[in-house]
Amino acid sequence: MASLVKKTKKPALQPLSFHSHPTMPPPPQTTLSTVLHLVLFLLLSSTTTAISTSQDTSDLEQDCTNKWIHIRDLPPQFNLDLLKNCSEYPLFDNFCSYLSNHGLGQKTYNDSHSWYRTDPFMLELIFHRRMLEYPCLTSDPNLANAIYLPYYAGLDSLKYLFGPAVNSSFLHGLDLFHYLAHQDSESIWHKNFGHDHFLVMARPAWDFCQPLSNDPPIFGTSLLELPEFYNVTMLTFEARAFPWQEIAIPYPTSFHPSNLALFEAWINRLRRTRRSTLMLFAAGGGISANPNVRRSIRLECDNSTNVSLNGSITMKYAKLCEFVDCSNGICEHDPIRFMKPMLQASFCLQPPGDTPTRRSTFDGILAGCIPVFFEELSAKKQYKWHLPEEKYEEFSVFIPKEEVVFKGLKILDVLMSIPRAEVRRMREKVLEMIPRVMYRKHGSSLGLRSKKDAFDIAIDGTLQRIKSRLEDSA
Ligand SMILES: *[C@@H]1O[C@H](CO)[C@@H](O)[C@H](O)[C@H]1NC(C)=O
Ligand SMILES: *[C@@H]1O[C@H](CO)[C@@H](O)[C@H](O)[C@H]1NC(C)=O
Ligand SMILES: *[C@@H]1O[C@H](CO)[C@@H](O)[C@H](O)[C@H]1NC(C)=O
Ligand SMILES: *[C@@H]1O[C@H](CO)[C@@H](O)[C@H](O)[C@H]1NC(C)=O
Ligand SMILES: *[C@@H]1O[C@H](CO)[C@@H](O)[C@H](O)[C@H]1NC(C)=O
Ligand SMILES: *[C@@H]1O[C@H](CO)[C@@H](O)[C@H](O)[C@H]1NC(C)=O
Ligand SMILES: *[C@@H]1O[C@H](CO)[C@@H](O)[C@H](O)[C@H]1NC(C)=O
Repeated sequence: MASLVKKTKKPALQPLSFHSHPTMPPPPQTTLSTVLHLVLFLLLSSTTTAISTSQDTSDLEQDCTNKWIHIRDLPPQFNLDLLKNCSEYPLFDNFCSYLSNHGLGQKTYNDSHSWYRTDPFMLELIFHRRMLEYPCLTSDPNLANAIYLPYYAGLDSLKYLFGPAVNSSFLHGLDLFHYLAHQDSESIWHKNFGHDHFLVMARPAWDFCQPLSNDPPIFGTSLLELPEFYNVTMLTFEARAFPWQEIAIPYPTSFHPSNLALFEAWINRLRRTRRSTLMLFAAGGGISANPNVRRSIRLECDNSTNVSLNGSITMKYAKLCEFVDCSNGICEHDPIRFMKPMLQASFCLQPPGDTPTRRSTFDGILAGCIPVFFEELSAKKQYKWHLPEEKYEEFSVFIPKEEVVFKGLKILDVLMSIPRAEVRRMREKVLEMIPRVMYRKHGSSLGLRSKKDAFDIAIDGTLQRIKSRLEDSA
């Protein structure tokens, strides 16, 4: 989990000039006012339940049958208070500046349209904001097919992971359960024993599944180990190998277009861009002494200038392998560092690190870079709603990590042997996947809303899952 833990101060900001802008200083930091603005917005909108998009949604001919969702009204300790505390975790970055634009973060530069310095941990906030404009909200829980808990589970875990409550991490979530099961006068929980409830946890499930018997605790809380929450559907970045209540959904990237023209301009740019690098690996850290797939990749990449080249390959690629050094978290809020090189690469290597999944998988897809996976838990066994299992052969390459680490299989040999026409076909499939894995901006135009994005697909999947759970338990 170390790769997801903020170890550094905020990186130096650099303008992301995807529209050939001159260098420009970053926008000013708007910490406290951002938080207050956001808190006010959420408070106002939670009393009126939804943000009115009625004149737009009638055009979309929404049929809300079996799609009604009720947003639970939770006390602020479960969401807004956690945002106000954004500078209070000694071992974690101050995350106040990541809250701007309802969790998308600051724009990469003042007049960028679609690019933000998005921190993936803010997905709980991004999701909440998108729920407020979901077209089939109901204020009556009895009419709802699913109940959304606007609980910022990952942010609430910080005090257990990095804060003063480190030795009581088994308590994570119990306040919420107590509220739902005992304090809520409407008894919404008891109608279906929580089977119709869902929430977002913007961290890998590993951070929440420490056995309750670990005393003193090792890293992580025990939220997923609590029987109190077994019935609740949890949306997370990475599910366990044998998941029960959690389902993996994509990490948010930095691309959040707000209308169809911006989206299509990006796709067209991806079609036109010259891919002069065969394969790319963006990651932090040096070369470890122990054999593992990241080490093998680094060695092969460093060595790739020595590979004797075949005529056709040489003509197409100026570089066989590029390593983008993201050490010390310098890439985390600075998407230009990796997006530019990814735009120029045909294949992006997505090996497991401390955990099998990476945000980079989605950055790469957004860049039209064909993902190369080394184990199935990295994506195929995770994102079944968003990236259908039967499509993997069409849009990605799979090279078992054991072959690379222990049997000397060269990644370059595998990738160079793929015919160019096949590479083009795969890239087209990657482009087809883009809407499914991106989180468009809240308040997007009608045209863009007609394409299902990562949020829409997560909601569809959740409604389906809850429907079948209710049928099973009936
Ligand atoms: C960026 O926007 C902020 C606020 O909107 C403004 O104060 C600042 O001067 C702008 N910076 C540039 C370089 O235009
Ligand atoms: C967060 O806010 C609450 C209430 O405002 C406070 O009690 C708590 O100590 C704060 N800090 C942390 C690290 O949770
Ligand atoms: C947590 O427990 C460990 C071991 O029992 C102890 O050394 C440490 O001081 C405790 N930390 C806090 C914040 O109470
Ligand atoms: C979960 O659902 C089962 C029935 O399917 C029920 O017996 C159990 O009490 C529920 N758990 C909680 C914590 O409500
Ligand atoms: C490095 O390159 C040489 C010459 O092409 C090759 O024989 C060797 O296997 C390569 N080593 C690695 C680790 O890729
Ligand atoms: C690659 O070749 C250069 C010079 O030809 C040599 O100095 C270097 O050690 C080689 N790298 C590897 C990893 O073999
Ligand atoms: C080079 O190209 C020839 C024919 O195009 C092919 O048979 C051979 O396997 C290629 N060698 C490498 C190292 O890719």
